[in-house]
Amino acid sequence: MEKRNNFMDLNQQNIRFFNFWAKFYGYGPLSWWLKNIQKHVVGNMRVPRASSVLDVGCGQGYFLHMLLQQGVRKLHGIDLSPAMIARARQTLGRHAVLKTASVHRIPFRDSTFDFVASTEAFHHFPSPKKSLRDMARVLKKGGALCIADINFYSGIIHWLFKKLEPGHVKIYSAQEFRKLFEQTGLRVVRQKRIGWFVILTIGRKV
Ligand SMILES: C[S@@+](CC[C@H](N)C(=O)[O-])C[C@H]1O[C@@H](n2cnc3c(N)ncnc32)[C@H](O)[C@@H]1O
Repeated sequence: MEKRNNFMDLNQQNIRFFNFWAKFYGYGPLSWWLKNIQKHVVGNMRVPRASSVLDVGCGQGYFLHMLLQQGVRKLHGIDLSPAMIARARQTLGRHAVLKTASVHRIPFRDSTFDFVASTEAFHHFPSPKKSLRDMARVLKKGGALCIADINFYSGIIHWLFKKLEPGHVKIYSAQEFRKLFEQTGLRVVRQKRIGWFVILTIGRKV
């Protein structure tokens, strides 16, 4: 019960924080940096045009928009923040199915997607195991889960980040990601740093 209340508190903090940030999320150097990370993730994923893709914590839909520009048509996104989803609808129009929802309860059927991706959001998800379980659930057998999230090498910086950023849960190391993927039945096929501060992990559902 206490855990459930903690999760609800975290979700409320995230909704407040990202509803506020949504007003200026698309502007400034941080936005440029986030889009640059997304560009690298898209490059590493190599998504065939006929694939179906889900972006979890899709924010304003820029990642899905990059895939759209490459000719990928079966695009889907979920985000906890209604304001982010409203902006994503402006970015993507009728080209994507977008829903306000939590990673803990992804509103799609089992084995729906060829790719599930999440960029810069995992450190906000209340339970890493529950999140990965639901992302793996909606992935088809043989499909790929691609998670890119921040990591600054230093425990002190991670501690500071947790103190300062609302709705922050935890920054994970490469080893922790690998272990979480494996515990969820995902075989890690690639793991690398993007720039200095982001770890990308790609796993296949076996
Ligand atoms: C830093 S933003 C990243 C957005 C986008 N992926 C990007 O790379 O620009 C983190 C996003 O995760 C969403 N988020 C936080 N907790 C979530 C949860 N439990 N389920 C789904 N989305 C969540 C936030 O609303 C926010 O839009």
